[in-house]
Amino acid sequence: MTQPVALEHVVVTGGAGFIGSAFTRNYLAWHPSARVTVIDKLTYAGNLQNLAPVDGDGRYRFVQADICDYDAVAPVLAGADAVVNFAAESHVDRSILDPDVFVRTNVLGVNALLRAATGAGVRRFLQVSTDEVYGHVGEGATPEDAPLKPRNPYSASKAGAELLAWSYFSNFTLPVLVTRGENTIGPYQYPEKATPLFITNALDDQPLPIYGQGEAVRHYLYVDDHAAAIDLVLHQGVPGEAYNIGADEAINTVALAERILDLLGKPRSLMRFVPDRPGHDYRYNLDCTKLEGLGWRRRYDFARTLEATVVWYRTHQDWWRAIKSGEYQDYYRRQYGAALAGAR
Ligand code: NAD
Ligand code: TYD
Repeated sequence: MTQPVALEHVVVTGGAGFIGSAFTRNYLAWHPSARVTVIDKLTYAGNLQNLAPVDGDGRYRFVQADICDYDAVAPVLAGADAVVNFAAESHVDRSILDPDVFVRTNVLGVNALLRAATGAGVRRFLQVSTDEVYGHVGEGATPEDAPLKPRNPYSASKAGAELLAWSYFSNFTLPVLVTRGENTIGPYQYPEKATPLFITNALDDQPLPIYGQGEAVRHYLYVDDHAAAIDLVLHQGVPGEAYNIGADEAINTVALAERILDLLGKPRSLMRFVPDRPGHDYRYNLDCTKLEGLGWRRRYDFARTLEATVVWYRTHQDWWRAIKSGEYQDYYRRQYGAALAGAR
């Protein structure tokens, strides 16, 4: 293990999204002398309300910018100690509907950011990646040196970002670290991913669309545990290395939907089986030995993770009701309209 590196000024790109905002809120609490500058384009998924708890904290600053725009981003990075890049198009189903924007932000945007970070001479560049870069894992647990075999435009663009980041490590000695986290849930997650979609639909007695037979397996990680792991890797990880971040329990989609309905006291009849996602990865499973070697322990098991998430959505309906209008309705109709009309 290396000595923890001191990082006073951290630039968090994509910090108005779900995990980036959790990281920002926590980082300011965990490191009282640190400063955080958030850069975010505020796409449909970015929301300044996610950062409202730190608004007014003199150590926090927000800059609206696109990570593809080198000229806008480079001056913000000048003098920074570290960059943690969360900025991405992040939803698999949208990447199947419209791949282009995924390549733009997740590959070209990351290249612009890597170039700016190299110019600024930052001491750490942490690229937040995903377990999805490994693709479907039929059996066993995946270590970090397993081949990357992404199978949808989202995961392919995230794998492309990683490969570019490694090239900056090799060619320009940029101190790159990569984390590959599992499915993450908790407060402030845009209600397009399965868990917040199921919870908010159930609260409105709307159907829960389950792809195929609902047999795909995921592990659900609490967002604060994910943020804590990124903080650990940022300070104590070895540049040039990737770190898996995983949750404990394997849950298929039917079990996830049932647990949510039970927690909310809603009937199981709200589950609707719709046509499967094309190229659906049926299983991910990470080997987290390397992260545990840095001393990481998750604080939330699956039961606590899901309960905390359900309670937050039940008690923060203003936040998600404001989102579930406008653009969201167009996306929902495009993604689910015909499928739900023909569902059993
Ligand atoms: P999110 O969609 O909630 O947030 C993404 C943020 O990036 C938004 O605030 C958006 O406005 C911003 N953004 C998008 N394009 C941008 C651009 N061109 N320039 C600047 N900002 C831009 O995503 P999330 O769920 O918080 O995921 C954050 C990161 O973590 C992503 O890189 C994702 O691949 C990774 N990840 C997510 C999960 C998960 O389960 N959600 C799991 C593992 C890894
Ligand atoms: P999702 O939250 O989109 O994350 P991932 O990036 O892992 O695909 O989906 C989690 C699981 O739930 C995945 O197996 C796909 C499934 N799913 C549904 O069955 N219905 C849905 O409406 C969505 C969004 C996902």
